[in-house]
Amino acid sequence: MSVSQSTRSLNLTIIGTGFVGVVSAAVYAHFGNQVYGLDIDKHKIDLLKDSQIPFFEPGLAELLQKTQKTGRLKFTTNYQKAISQADVILIAVGTPSAPSGNADLKYVLAASVSLAPYLKQDAIVVVKSTVPPGTLAKVAEAIKTKTKRHFYLASLPEFLKEGTAVADTLKPDRIVIGATDPFVFQVLEALHQPFGAPIVKISPESAQMAKYAANNFLATRITFANQLADLCEKNGADIDEVIKAIGYDQRIGAHYWYPGFGYGGSCFPKDVKELAAYSRTVGEADNLFNKIDALNETRIAKLLDHYEKLIGGFEHKKVAVLGLSFKPNTNDMRVAPSTKVIPLLIEKGAEVVGYDPKASWLEFGLPQLDNFQQLKTIEAALENVDVIFVLIEWPEIVQFDYGKIRQKNKPQWLIDARNQLDIQQVQKWGFNYLAIGKSVKVPSYERAKSK
Ligand code: UDX
Repeated sequence: MSVSQSTRSLNLTIIGTGFVGVVSAAVYAHFGNQVYGLDIDKHKIDLLKDSQIPFFEPGLAELLQKTQKTGRLKFTTNYQKAISQADVILIAVGTPSAPSGNADLKYVLAASVSLAPYLKQDAIVVVKSTVPPGTLAKVAEAIKTKTKRHFYLASLPEFLKEGTAVADTLKPDRIVIGATDPFVFQVLEALHQPFGAPIVKISPESAQMAKYAANNFLATRITFANQLADLCEKNGADIDEVIKAIGYDQRIGAHYWYPGFGYGGSCFPKDVKELAAYSRTVGEADNLFNKIDALNETRIAKLLDHYEKLIGGFEHKKVAVLGLSFKPNTNDMRVAPSTKVIPLLIEKGAEVVGYDPKASWLEFGLPQLDNFQQLKTIEAALENVDVIFVLIEWPEIVQFDYGKIRQKNKPQWLIDARNQLDIQQVQKWGFNYLAIGKSVKVPSYERAKSK
């Protein structure tokens, strides 16, 4: 590839057709590049060839279909075909946490070895997976075991959110390019010009740290809000009012520190653990990230103990858990609050039913549990229920008319894990309402009756 070529559309190959890989492949093709999505999983590739996505993400199937029709986006399991013509290869494979908490680089390094024999002279190998500083040297070493050709390296962290991944990728807040060579900056800057976002050109180590920093900062902010919320419950303050009051301070802002049952998903829990583990490996054992992780890990058990006391025990109660995914607009259940809440409720003696508009407990591979079943409609899940957990803010769950299922002859509890319901409305319906960081009074006669 010559420098002049660097301003035109490129031949790209994205290794790994997981969440980040598929979204990126579709978006780069949308912007006029010739893209291959490459994976060793034949079943996944067969689905993708047919514009079928193995997960739910709004708008992605449409974008995939559109770009596949133009002929600019293809999927394959054939390394030779996909790599030998690629100017830029993006590695977007998974980086699960190893038992030590450190990022496990085995898939990144396996992909590096597999691509090496077919690498074009001067191709750019870009690591998009979340990896710690120092990883590019390992990738270079792995590639060099299989080729003598010259290649370049870069780091291009991904900041998209599930549920809004297509919009986030088409219009990102910024593009971060971590590299050392001016040619690499030039090619990757040209590739990202159509995105219309600020481009931050920094070293690979800074780019890798920036990814961890962004997710750890946001996770810390959420944990801070959760800690404040717990204090508010003890003193009559309301966490939403507190956030509103300080959010006008432009240094702080009111967005993205809504309290709840703790952060979940595929990134925050993992990235906090990884930064904590990385800190330990470089001799910073006493670090903030350890504590953030521990607070988040123990949060749900602590909240359920608290509710157990307020409600007078979960034993023999029918409990509906609404929202099984880790957040709205996804069927992803990785580190979803439901996966902790449901087993704990069962342990406390409850009979639990679940509902989610998209996520499926069993299809996600979670174990069948005695005393738990997932039902197909919200109405079915709420039949004759004693306690309702509004766990995830799916619009259908937040907007549901709970007055319809209120049984006047018994106390019923509504626990709002995302502070989304109108307190006055819920109390008018006659529910005992518990939310996060709000000291809602529970009528004492109701508490006595529920025992
Ligand atoms: C996150 C980052 O936002 C994204 O930039 C990165 O690329 C991947 O990780 P994602 O995991 O898709 O994205 O979801 P996000 O919407 O950020 O939510 C993460 C978790 O934090 C969820 O459990 C969510 O409920 C929780 N959260 C988020 C809060 O508890 N309060 C908030 O104010 C925001």
